[in-house]
Amino acid sequence: MPKKYQGSADLDKFVVNGGKRLRGRVTISGAKNAAVAILPAVLLADGPCIIENVPDISDVNAMISALKILGADIKQLKKNTFSIDPTGVKSYVVSKEMAQGMRASSYFLGALLGCMRRAKVAPPGGCEIGLRPIDQHIKGFEALGARVTIEQGMVVAKAEKLGGCSVYLDVVSVGATVNIMLAAAKARGMTIIENAAREPHIVDLANFLNSMGADIMGAGTSVIKIRGVQHLKGTNYSIIPDQIEAGTYMVAAAATKGDVLICNVTPKHLESITAKLRETGVTVEEGDECVRVRMDSRPGKCNVKTMPHPGFPTDMQPQFATLLSISNGTSIVTEGVWDSRFRYAEQLTFMGADIQVDGKSAVITGVKSLKGASVKANDLRAGAAMIIAGLIADGTTEIEDIEYIDRGYECLVEKFSSLGADIKRVSDYDTINQLKAN
Ligand code: EPU
Repeated sequence: MPKKYQGSADLDKFVVNGGKRLRGRVTISGAKNAAVAILPAVLLADGPCIIENVPDISDVNAMISALKILGADIKQLKKNTFSIDPTGVKSYVVSKEMAQGMRASSYFLGALLGCMRRAKVAPPGGCEIGLRPIDQHIKGFEALGARVTIEQGMVVAKAEKLGGCSVYLDVVSVGATVNIMLAAAKARGMTIIENAAREPHIVDLANFLNSMGADIMGAGTSVIKIRGVQHLKGTNYSIIPDQIEAGTYMVAAAATKGDVLICNVTPKHLESITAKLRETGVTVEEGDECVRVRMDSRPGKCNVKTMPHPGFPTDMQPQFATLLSISNGTSIVTEGVWDSRFRYAEQLTFMGADIQVDGKSAVITGVKSLKGASVKANDLRAGAAMIIAGLIADGTTEIEDIEYIDRGYECLVEKFSSLGADIKRVSDYDTINQLKAN
């Protein structure tokens, strides 16, 4: 993450007065992880694209800024809708400054390689949740015919021409699947990705590319076939709702013994979260594009293991563990995707939770309630967990390092406040000025 500097929003914190039951209706924004794949994919188009339901979050805004620096002509048509014309893009370099703080900068490798046959991209930043190698991305690019080197700390990929290939991913990787799809969409011939990731955002990217004229089959299964085409045209596309933002509000509703209608969601994408919530005794009713989550007692215990889609998402692990921290019993949570995703556990213990972490598992013995404390967001989803903990806790919780949370949750204060939460964003400078005034 960028260094904090005086006057920066990085010094803001969230202050939550807990104990309010969440009630009402909340509308979910466009999916972060689909947006950060679709925006660079626009580079492959021969004309302007109009993208709707783009979430206003810092990861996406960083990507839009990077596209502008590359030379794309971008206009915001209205809130969450952008017109992006990539035809003026001449540069294939994504500098360290452009890549900083966003993991998905690596998608510029696949997109630029696909449209210009070369790319020079600074290594991705992003949340610290374990080693984040890109060996499988590189394996895919090389199979397509590119030469990939590291030069002065930048990843450089070049190809005379790209040709269809078969790639078997050694680990199920969202990023590698996206990047290979981007590089292969305009390659010559058929590319087959085996052991591909099946997340909803992979399907969304495939639908977007197909709406530009690509020929991609099998997205959503573990074998994706991409028949390269010569041209991709501009298109209009609306990004799917954010499965993880929705899951976060579902868990927050359950944890506060609330009753919340969560709108603009695809219930099918939430199945694993719904199933686990039901296991703890939460009532989840599914509508066409909404889910209603109700709870009026302490949740029951439940074991969870995170896995690639359709398994329980790793990006919901910290939030769900927070719910289990006040459950009636002992639960085991096992992380099956990232090496280091329990750093939030220590913060929860500051609030009175009983969590013992041992390697990739955490044993959580439910306590009756949490107590407000000063905590920090270790990463994006850890930050979401701290918000939920603050909503449950007796007293006041202050959450620092919230720039992580800004990466993935649009209008968080407004949305939680509209459900009756007592949450505000406070700048340290406001506090200092207030003290000076008194
Ligand atoms: N991996 C490798 N080699 C690779 C790529 C991945 O070994 O070349 C390993 C990773 O170390 C990890 C596992 O494979 O253990 C899965 O990594 P993946 O590539 O699927 O993750 P990613 O593409 O870097 C995306 C999301 C993450 C989410 C993971 C898993 C985006 C921009 N990020 O990351 O989202 O946790 O998939 O679902 O799509 C978040 O939104 O908070 C977030 C971290």
